Amino acid sequence: MTQVSRQQWGKVSGLGSVDIWVLQSSQLKVEILTLGAIIRSVCCRGKDGQMEDVVLGYDDLEGYVSDKRYLGAVVGRVANRIAQGRFVVEGKEYQLDINNGPNAIHGGLWGFNKAVWLATGVEGGVKLTLTSPDGDQGYPGEVEVSVTYTLQEETLTAEYQARSTKTTPINLTNHSYFNLAGQGAEDIYDHQVSISAQNFLPVDDTSIPTGEIRAVEGTPFDLRKQVLIGTQLKEVPGPGFDHNYCLSLPKDPWTERHAARVCHSASGRVLEVSTSQPGVQFYTANFLDGSISGKGGLKYGKHSAFCLETQNWPDAVNQASFPDCLLHPGEDYQHVTRLTFTTV
Ligand code: BGC
Repeated sequence: MTQVSRQQWGKVSGLGSVDIWVLQSSQLKVEILTLGAIIRSVCCRGKDGQMEDVVLGYDDLEGYVSDKRYLGAVVGRVANRIAQGRFVVEGKEYQLDINNGPNAIHGGLWGFNKAVWLATGVEGGVKLTLTSPDGDQGYPGEVEVSVTYTLQEETLTAEYQARSTKTTPINLTNHSYFNLAGQGAEDIYDHQVSISAQNFLPVDDTSIPTGEIRAVEGTPFDLRKQVLIGTQLKEVPGPGFDHNYCLSLPKDPWTERHAARVCHSASGRVLEVSTSQPGVQFYTANFLDGSISGKGGLKYGKHSAFCLETQNWPDAVNQASFPDCLLHPGEDYQHVTRLTFTTV
């Protein structure tokens, strides 16, 4: 049985008031903000019974308002990168703001992570909705989007839905940073990871997929059997993992399959991720640099967390061989991701 409660958290000038929704089961306590549909915290027990918050974030609303790293947020309209911020839909070229090297990332300067969503209570959770106007951040069509978070015992489910008045690319994900030792622990080198993917997408030096779908076999990106993140990071070129893993073809938008598992043996905490999305971006917080003052005044440094962003493949709007990311008028965009927290 999950208890759901709501309280006001503060006000953002120009945006209005922001609430915290608290979902509490016998296993987990989860806090959701109406700003950015942000997962502010997930508290779960280790094998010694000790509760820890395993999600990075900020103590106050101001932290989230000025955040540039998408801590906990739902990102959209299009999560991840679009090469040169440019794409053509139905013969028309669109140019987005460039906000990541030469590319566009995570929905633009004022993406869904910076909006205050409308919230209503549902059985075991909260449904957040947002209307993104035609032309928002350069994207076509008015888009109605919702994210519904529900909690059942040790599983937090996120269901995403959208409809558009014009054909538009869409790719929604949640950008939570996790450290299963507890948020603020120095690094994730003692975590073990496995990802159920035969292939990954190599990227160019601006992190845009080259178009090749490469087998993980025989590469440092092979995570089919669990590996220690600290050891594996020494094998991976560049600052760390920041790559899309190609999952098996989804059956339908509501049927998830296993995507990833992360285990922190010292505390016994395990996170299992399943999704109906075509991919998962595994990111080892390579660009956190200690400059963020997080919850409890703790500093978040390089490799102090991991993200498993379930999503469509990056730059899909420009790469014909990638899974289709276009939402047409009259169609429903929908998918589901489940996060299950257990112990071993
Ligand atoms: C990207 C990273 C980026 C991070 C924060 C991740 O989804 O893959 O390259 O630094 O988001 O924007």
